Amino acid sequence: METQNRLGSRIAFGVCGGIAAYKAAESVRLLSQAGHDVHTITTQWGARFIGPLTLEALSGNPCISSDAIDGSMRHIALMREVDLLLVAPLTAETLAKFAHGHADHLLTQSYLAFRGPVVVFPAMNTAMLEHPATQRNLDQLRADGVRVILGESGALACGETGPGRMAEPELIAEVVESVLTQPLPGLKGARVLVTAGPTREALDPVRYLTNRSSGRMGLALARALRNAGAIVTLVHGPINERLPWGTENVAVTSAAQMADAVLSRADDQDVLVLCAAVADYAPVYAAQKLKKDQFDGQLKLNRTQDILASLGQRKRTDQILVGFAAESENVTANARRKLESKNLDLIFANDISRPDGGFEGTENALFALGPNGFCMDLGHHSKTELATQITSIINTKRTTGTL
Ligand SMILES: Cc1cc2nc3c(=O)[nH]c(=O)nc-3n(C[C@H](O)[C@H](O)[C@H](O)COP(=O)(O)O)c2cc1C
Repeated sequence: METQNRLGSRIAFGVCGGIAAYKAAESVRLLSQAGHDVHTITTQWGARFIGPLTLEALSGNPCISSDAIDGSMRHIALMREVDLLLVAPLTAETLAKFAHGHADHLLTQSYLAFRGPVVVFPAMNTAMLEHPATQRNLDQLRADGVRVILGESGALACGETGPGRMAEPELIAEVVESVLTQPLPGLKGARVLVTAGPTREALDPVRYLTNRSSGRMGLALARALRNAGAIVTLVHGPINERLPWGTENVAVTSAAQMADAVLSRADDQDVLVLCAAVADYAPVYAAQKLKKDQFDGQLKLNRTQDILASLGQRKRTDQILVGFAAESENVTANARRKLESKNLDLIFANDISRPDGGFEGTENALFALGPNGFCMDLGHHSKTELATQITSIINTKRTTGTL
C-alpha cells in the first residue's frame, strides 16, 4: 500500500526583523519535535528581535546569522541540501528584496540560491501590508511560485487591529507538513468530503443533547487527505479543536443541518468519508425554555435522517463511500452488517468498550473492513497515524478498484 513520506525533512528557516520573530522560536520547536532537521538563518534585524542562541538550542543546529559573515559559504551549501525554505516572519523589507532579486544579505542570497519549494509567512502593520507596493511584491512572489500564507486578522503589536498578524506556530507546522508530503496518485485532485465531530440537538433555547465525539479523528482525516493532494470539504459539528488549513470548512450544529450540508454537496464528490457522530434521535423542540415544574420527565425523540444510508442509496459506481462504526460488542460482525446494509465501500470500526476506545482521546484502535471479506487490524495508534493509514487504503481502492 502506498504511504506518504512525512517526517525527517531538512528545512531552512529564515527569520526577519519583526515583533513576530518571537513566534519563530515556537515554530522551530514544533518542527524539530515533529522530526525535521531545522536550520535557522536570521537577518541582522532578525537577530535583534530573537537571539540566535535560542534558535540554536531549539533546532539543535548552528544558526546562520547575517551578523556573523565569514568565508565559509555555509548558507549556499545548506540551500543545496534542504527540502524547503520557509521564512517567518517575512518583513516588508525582505519581501521587497525577494520580489526584486536583491542579494545583499545571507537570507536573500539563500532565497536566490534555492531551487526547491518556498513558503513565507508575512507579518507587518496593516497599512504596510495593504500598501500597493507590498501587494505588488506579494503578487510577484506568488507569480514566482512562492506560497504566501497570511495570518488571521487580529490585534497587532503596533496597537492596530486588522490583517498583518503572522500565522500561529501550529499553522506554520501544518503548512510545512502539507507542502512536504508527497501526494498520492489516487487522491491528487480528487474531491473528498469528510464529516467530523458531534451534532447538537436542541431541546429548548438553552439545552441540547449531544455526544462525546471530539472531532479529532475527522480533523486528522481531513488533514491527511489534503496532504495526499485531495480537494477537501470538511463538514463539522461543534468542536473545540483547531480547524485544518487549506480545506473548505463548513460548520453545522444539528443532524438536520449536517444532512443538508452533506447531501447538497455529495454529487460533486469522488470520495465521502463520514466520520461525524451524528445523533440518531432529536428531541421535539420547545420554543420556550422548559420550566422545571412543567416538565413531566419524558423526552419525545424523533429519528433523524440516516445520512450514510441515504448516500449509499444514491451513490454512483465511481464514488467511494466510507463509514465509521463505534461498537461496544461484536465489533467486526456489527461493522460488516453496517457496511452491507448501507452499501458502503469501506468501514472503519472501533471498540468503544475498551478504555482506549476512541472518543475524546488522541489515540484509537481501528479495524478496516471492505466487501469480499476484506478485514485488516490497523492497530492502536495516534489518530494522525490512523488517518494516514486510512488515506492509503482509500488511495489503494481508488487506484486499483479493489482491496
Ligand atoms: C520595534 C520594531 C518592530 C518592527 N516590526 C516589523 C514588522 O512586524 N514587520 C515588518 O515588516 N517590519 C517591522 N519592523 C521594521 C523592520 O525591522 C525593518 O524594516 C528592517 O529593516 C527589516 O530588516 P530585515 O527584513 O532584513 O529583517 C519593525 C521595526 C521595529 C523597530
